[in-house]
Amino acid sequence: MKRLLLALVLVLPLLSGCTKKENEIVIGEYDSLTGSDATFGLSTNKGVRMAMDEINATGGIKGKKVSIITLDDQGKNEEAAAATTRLITQNQVVAIIGGVASGRSKAAAPIAQSHKIPFVSPASTNPDVTKIGDYVFRVCFIDPFQGLVMAKFATENLKLKKAAILRDVKNDYSVGLADVFAAEFQKRGGEIVADLSYQAGDIDFKAQLTQIRSKNPDGIYIPGYYTEVGLIAQQTRQLGIKAPLMGGDGWDSDKLSEIGKDAVNGNYYSNHYTTESSDPAVTEFIKKFKAKYNETPDSMAALGYDAAKILFAALERSPDLSGKAIRDELAKTKDFPGVTGKITLNENRDAVKSAVIIQVDGNNRKFITTITP
Ligand code: PHE
Repeated sequence: MKRLLLALVLVLPLLSGCTKKENEIVIGEYDSLTGSDATFGLSTNKGVRMAMDEINATGGIKGKKVSIITLDDQGKNEEAAAATTRLITQNQVVAIIGGVASGRSKAAAPIAQSHKIPFVSPASTNPDVTKIGDYVFRVCFIDPFQGLVMAKFATENLKLKKAAILRDVKNDYSVGLADVFAAEFQKRGGEIVADLSYQAGDIDFKAQLTQIRSKNPDGIYIPGYYTEVGLIAQQTRQLGIKAPLMGGDGWDSDKLSEIGKDAVNGNYYSNHYTTESSDPAVTEFIKKFKAKYNETPDSMAALGYDAAKILFAALERSPDLSGKAIRDELAKTKDFPGVTGKITLNENRDAVKSAVIIQVDGNNRKFITTITP
């Protein structure tokens, strides 16, 4: 009798562990839920969770409930890598929805690749991210396009001739985007009169801005994340610089105006979607998101939602839950009707999509134009 009891005690947890796994599909997600770009992670997570709740409300995938484990990378590359290892080895997730920042994806994706666990980044735009390997995907456009978009807008619409650049020199995304902008701006007949650096965490940019002011540019490109961009915008105005500021998707946060106040108004950035769209897929998404979270979804929320839904669709089609089978289905993603546009993943596992130019106006993000690849 004693032996039987002991055996039961040992076996029961195993059994319940099994049952849980059989009825659930476990997906991993890591994101910056804290740190200086926390809105990236918090917004992505809201989009991902909304997609998860929706699919579970309709019975899950193949009769199994989708469960998503989210870990905080604190905005640090090494934490993103550690979270990915933990999700794969301890939580045994079938796939990973990676974070937003390109630098963190570059640290985390090689781990997913080496374990052959599909990795889908919602928003990492640096071209090197998907070059890591055939298990690494993204549902957003890439920076060679995003940089070109702003160079085109700067020369054709704003008619700028002389631009300065202020780049976050330790951020892969910022450096990549700055390089593309510089090349494209010059190709279009413009001149780069200054190209200076800062580092995330800096708070005083006056030395660089004074140098930039002395070159008298008619526009300044600052492809950084919102916290520093907000501070830079303020100091630009304090130094009497009137030239328009331009940036990329890293500006897209309500915190940009909270930090930069009026100084950010009137400036331009490239982005993944516009909340002003009349596309029913977008209006419906915004309505549902507002009802759930009482806020307007930024582009990370929209991309997180699209990334999760594309992964769910691949899981649905996949003959089994092996990394290889899921990967093969992800690679077949074609014309997926996303909130951020129609998504087809190309042979490099990147999405080819149009970008929009947004003008900052407090927390209204004014749609200016769409630029297609
Ligand atoms: N594209 C940025 C990067 O690769 C991240 C980002 C995406 C930021 C979308 C804001 C909105 O680092």
